[in-house]
Amino acid sequence: MLILGIETSCDETAAAVVRDGKEVLSSIVASQDKLHLPYGGVVPEIACRAHLSAMLPVLHRALHEAHVTLDDVQAVAVVNRPGLIGSLLIGLTAAKVVAWLHDLPLIGVNHIHAHAYAAALERNIPTFPCAALVASGGHTSLFHSRSPIDHELLGGTRDDAAGEAFDKVASILGLGYPGGPEIDRVAREGDPRAVPFKRSRFQDSLDFSFSGIKTAVLYHCRGQNAAEPARPLSRREIADIAAGFQEAVVRTLSDRLFEAAETLGESRVAVGGGVAANSRLRERLRREAECRGLELILPSMKYCIDNAAMVAGLGWHLLQAGQVDDLTLDAHPTVRPSPRKPLRAKPV
Ligand code: KG4
Ligand code: ZN
Repeated sequence: MLILGIETSCDETAAAVVRDGKEVLSSIVASQDKLHLPYGGVVPEIACRAHLSAMLPVLHRALHEAHVTLDDVQAVAVVNRPGLIGSLLIGLTAAKVVAWLHDLPLIGVNHIHAHAYAAALERNIPTFPCAALVASGGHTSLFHSRSPIDHELLGGTRDDAAGEAFDKVASILGLGYPGGPEIDRVAREGDPRAVPFKRSRFQDSLDFSFSGIKTAVLYHCRGQNAAEPARPLSRREIADIAAGFQEAVVRTLSDRLFEAAETLGESRVAVGGGVAANSRLRERLRREAECRGLELILPSMKYCIDNAAMVAGLGWHLLQAGQVDDLTLDAHPTVRPSPRKPLRAKPV
């Protein structure tokens, strides 16, 4: 069964065709990074206009590269939450038009759950149940993912998302946007122990906080008196600060994920979202998983950042479970946070 996936929740216009939730026949992503670069972050109005002009060409290319037409597709899956409302509406409208014209089931997909599902794409052995971490520009969430469509929230960020912290610290250091890949690149030349940053940790909770470390980087670079002119930083200093910051975030994410897995008694851990493309995070997760005897499931780099293959993949599972929407499906900028269950160890 072929599912057409559409994703426009932030600043990527994406469409994909996926067979039976796993086999990616095409995955097209039109990035808007260059448009937002001068502003150091996503400008929602610019994002909407860019989605409008990219949507149809991206859709056509996804079908063309998959060697199919809309007559071959059996359902349309689209991200309808959470995200920038104007951006979401463009993908949702495109999906509704396709579904209406071709009389296809329409499936609304949660963007964060799709990131958690990305690890299962092109994988023929089980991914679920697992402890799953989604770390992106807008979200940092830890789930007990019992199946592709059953994700129980265990913890999330109380302020900035991990990717947002990467973007803001990159901006403080005078690096480009998006900041994650820039810090990843620059940190390779730095010493992570040269400028150690403290990590936030909540007692009795799997929540995260990244605003403190972002402020610590700001104070380290500019001093506590914001009125004072910024001291120019050498290339070496920038690399050391980037490496110290990255190390602190990577350790926080990795420690929390393994803590959740071990308390839940799960033998698999999965990660998703743009930050899962971070080379140091991937390296640490691999080493830690090996030491603890756990199975680590990392999506390939192209399925970490926003894409529609993860949406079509998860859409197939929702369709199998009968979770289908109609043309009244609406877009939601946020998802109502479900009450977090306290983390309890699996009885033995
Ligand atoms: O999942 P994504 O494409 O979009 C959202 O759903 O937000 O994630 C984008 C985020 C950005 O904050 C970007 O800086 C971060 O992922 N990112 C990275 C890396 N590549 C992308 N962060 C750290 N290291 C990377 N290599
Ligand atoms: Zn995303």
